[in-house]
Amino acid sequence: MCGIVGYIGRQDALPILIEGLKHLEYRGYDSAGVAILGKDLQIQKSQGHIAALEAKLVQMDGTTGLAHTRWATHGRPSDLNAHPFTDCSGAMAIVHNGIIENFQALKEDLLAKGHTFVSETDTETLVHLFEEHYKGDLAEAVRAGLKKVVGSYAVAVIHRDHPGMLVAARNENPLVVGVSADGEGVMASDVTPLLDFTHEFTFLEDGDLVVLREGEFQLMDLDGEPVERPVHVVDWNLEDAQKGGFEHFMLKEIFEQPQAILDSMMGRIVEEDLTALAPPDVDKIKIIACGTSYHAGLIGKYILESLAGLDTTVEMASEYRYSNLAKESALVVAITQSGETIDTISAVREAKRRGTSTLAITNVVGSTITREADQTIYTRAGPEIGVAATKTFITQLIAIYLLAFALGAKRRTIGAEHLRVLREELRRLPSQVQQVLNNRDLIKGVAEPIHEAHDVYFIGRNINYPSALEGALKLKEISYIHAEGYPAGEMKHGPIALVGEDTPIIAIVVDDPVRPKMLSNIMEVSARDAPVFAVGLEDDVELAKLVDVVIPVPRTNPIFSPVVVLVSLQLLAYFVAHMRKCSIDKPRNLAKSVTVE
Ligand code: M6R
Repeated sequence: MCGIVGYIGRQDALPILIEGLKHLEYRGYDSAGVAILGKDLQIQKSQGHIAALEAKLVQMDGTTGLAHTRWATHGRPSDLNAHPFTDCSGAMAIVHNGIIENFQALKEDLLAKGHTFVSETDTETLVHLFEEHYKGDLAEAVRAGLKKVVGSYAVAVIHRDHPGMLVAARNENPLVVGVSADGEGVMASDVTPLLDFTHEFTFLEDGDLVVLREGEFQLMDLDGEPVERPVHVVDWNLEDAQKGGFEHFMLKEIFEQPQAILDSMMGRIVEEDLTALAPPDVDKIKIIACGTSYHAGLIGKYILESLAGLDTTVEMASEYRYSNLAKESALVVAITQSGETIDTISAVREAKRRGTSTLAITNVVGSTITREADQTIYTRAGPEIGVAATKTFITQLIAIYLLAFALGAKRRTIGAEHLRVLREELRRLPSQVQQVLNNRDLIKGVAEPIHEAHDVYFIGRNINYPSALEGALKLKEISYIHAEGYPAGEMKHGPIALVGEDTPIIAIVVDDPVRPKMLSNIMEVSARDAPVFAVGLEDDVELAKLVDVVIPVPRTNPIFSPVVVLVSLQLLAYFVAHMRKCSIDKPRNLAKSVTVE
């Protein structure tokens, strides 16, 4: 996720664009840059926050320009990888948000045609592709280039020979345009930087291209046929706009999960060979992580064991480094959304000291863990502002599925047909998560009786036992209600002594081999008068008879069920915390990255 802003008008574009970028910094903040079209095309960019760019900016005169704040996906944060990029002639500048899946193939073709590249990014391919198609008509060059692109983009382009003109296009990444009362043409990834200019916006749809000039814009498709889109009046203040109209970043990030899953899978289901990330002789995996990432690891154990036949253990990073193991023989996989958790970083150092290979799964390109670990898989969730991990967690699971597919295929523990079916099922997850999100009102209703509880127990079995742990952690960290996750079969060995009419139980029941056992465990707690709420299949009539309410989730292969289950439990935690008037995005005593031991 990156931020784009563009301006065409009569004012000096530079301060307008820098101010606009500041409003978009929540979308990415590892580097920033600006291109201004004046007498010539001028570009300045810098690694780091927008303040770093601002500190070294020299004045660039011009009333047309583009700016970008980056959240790295391809290529670490650096001055060279920052946007905008120019073509070989230095006439064209582009900024981009998204992922170009076929950039390697395009780049090879362009290199063969004599183009030279300066960065590690997928984005730079676009500017050379447009240059290749440029015959004097900028919109035509962009249309022709984009027809060759597979992937997602919001892309914007300016050209030295077209002063006062900006061309932009969208596929699966947001872009909005507007014109101020004074005729200034403005464009951005979302409305936040544009609210000082207008409250009337047109949102591009997938396949749309816009030609923006002072006082007007034209919308067309990639064949150049005109398209019409409605004008929306957006009456938000700045903070509302940054949250996309959601009340909290956490809720926004929960709703971004279909897109985050899509981005994390893009170009990797078949195309990218993730087996290269693991040593060829790997036969054991040890996952080390903390908090929510540790729960992703626990779910990962089931995934890697059942799909790749790999003996997998999971340890809390803060404990691993003090264990007495002298030599490590497993491949150590460190999971950390921030990439900066000191417990996990120290555990990776210890694993290397014990003589093994390490692989990191993280969301932050260039974070410390990526320099410590031998290899890295990025999760591509985009920046997560809410302290509670949601989309970063779900995309950690996606990375683990992809790794398990690759290793399973290599180790021949998954047959070709099974792999084909699993890939299909994985591709369905974004729309299945959307179905869960559509249940928000029902889930809010379930939050009502829970928000006054003092203790809540989450129970599940098998792959959804760690889902119970994560459901409980989400609830406790943002609502401050004591919550615990248990393997459902373990309740009778002690915890059931605590169960009664004041202790709501959240039971996770999907269509898997442990379902009959789960139903029995539900009856055990119901017999002690506990109110029971289930996360289960919509058509599970038997389950519906046993519990107070079922939060319905779509039917998936059980191995993918934690994804739909946990999106429901994230929403439940959110609504409970909301009813308790808690500080949802910044829960007490917690931080987004924990850099102390
Ligand atoms: O950045 P990491 O994934 O390494 O962070 C680990 C934990 O600190 C983190 O998951 C924490 O539990 C969050 N508050 C979860 O919402």
